[in-house]
Amino acid sequence: MKSINDGKNFRVVTGSPRETKKLAQKIFQENKKELRNRCLIFALQGELGTGKTQLAKGLGRALGIKETIVSPSFTLIREYPFEVGGRRGIFYHLDAWRIETAEEWLALDVRGLIKPGNVVAIEWPEKGRETWDKIFDSLAVKVVWVNLEHQGKGERIISQPRRLGGPE
Ligand SMILES: Nc1ncnc2c1ncn2[C@@H]1O[C@H](COP(=O)(O)OP(=O)(O)OP(=O)(O)O)[C@@H](O)[C@H]1O
Ligand SMILES: [Mg+2]
Repeated sequence: MKSINDGKNFRVVTGSPRETKKLAQKIFQENKKELRNRCLIFALQGELGTGKTQLAKGLGRALGIKETIVSPSFTLIREYPFEVGGRRGIFYHLDAWRIETAEEWLALDVRGLIKPGNVVAIEWPEKGRETWDKIFDSLAVKVVWVNLEHQGKGERIISQPRRLGGPE
């Protein structure tokens, strides 16, 4: 795992799915204190096959979830109860790829999932971005934005655009 820190953007190049999962665990550890009074949201942006689901698997591991985290591409939302550091919550894994309209979001009642102590990973948060922005602005959340990009074979550039210097 190689880190590149140019002062604005925190970037890491992972060389395997395993490294991407390890990075997910690290990012979770850095943010877990937020669970005390907020919902921790990981907004995973990146093209097909960049490793969003792999990263969500790493989050599942960080949360001590024994069940296999599988892609929610068809089910849209999967939920996994967890207990970490004596704290119980639910990990919701969402895939917005197939969602087209605001009505579909409302039908899923995503606001109801966003509660302090829960963790939500969203693949394709850029779909329905307006809906998400409204939700994020109106509830107690900490949103961790993560961008994933293809690099060479087996490599992915993973960055956190708002980690340093950017707006919170
Ligand atoms: N460094 C890496 N990190 C993560 N995955 C990698 C890496 N190198 C290769 N891969 C492979 O890339 C694929 C990533 O698949 P994954 O399902 O996580 O992508 P995704 O971003 O969730 O795609 P989708 O948009 O279809 O949901 C896997 O087959 C994985 O083995
Ligand atoms: Mg996926």
